[in-house]
Amino acid sequence: MEIIKWSDDLKSNVNAFNEEHKVLINTINQVYTLLNEGKREEAKKTLMEKVVSYTDKHFKHEEEVMERYNYPKEKLEGHKKMHRFFVKYLLETLAPEIEKGDDRKFNEALNFIVGWLIMHIKNMDVKGYGKWYEENNIEVPDEMIKI
Ligand SMILES: [Fe+2]
Ligand SMILES: [Fe+2]
Repeated sequence: MEIIKWSDDLKSNVNAFNEEHKVLINTINQVYTLLNEGKREEAKKTLMEKVVSYTDKHFKHEEEVMERYNYPKEKLEGHKKMHRFFVKYLLETLAPEIEKGDDRKFNEALNFIVGWLIMHIKNMDVKGYGKWYEENNIEVPDEMIKI
């Protein structure tokens, strides 16, 4: 079962990050499937362990690359702020809600995660660093990113 589908408007010119975004989407779909199969504990575990840690790693990779290629400071700071907001919100607001609430709450949290990530990938990744690297003829080699 899929709650998010990969689509071309999520694609930037940084292949390694497209691949990381795909992994992230697949993992969220796994959570959604588990929840819909009634495997709540497993769904929670996958969300808290896999999604949270992978998101954190992915954000760090993006930030390292933006720093490496001198992405304009203001944009970099804005981007980092959004990353931090999301991880904090996930851990401090959504996780306790999922813990206390029912499946409906869990679904709402998943919908928020999906909505936020899609918006972030489209607006800040693809239209942010993706566009800027393109305009500045920067090609980020795959080897730069260690998954
Ligand atoms: Fe991203
Ligand atoms: Fe990002």
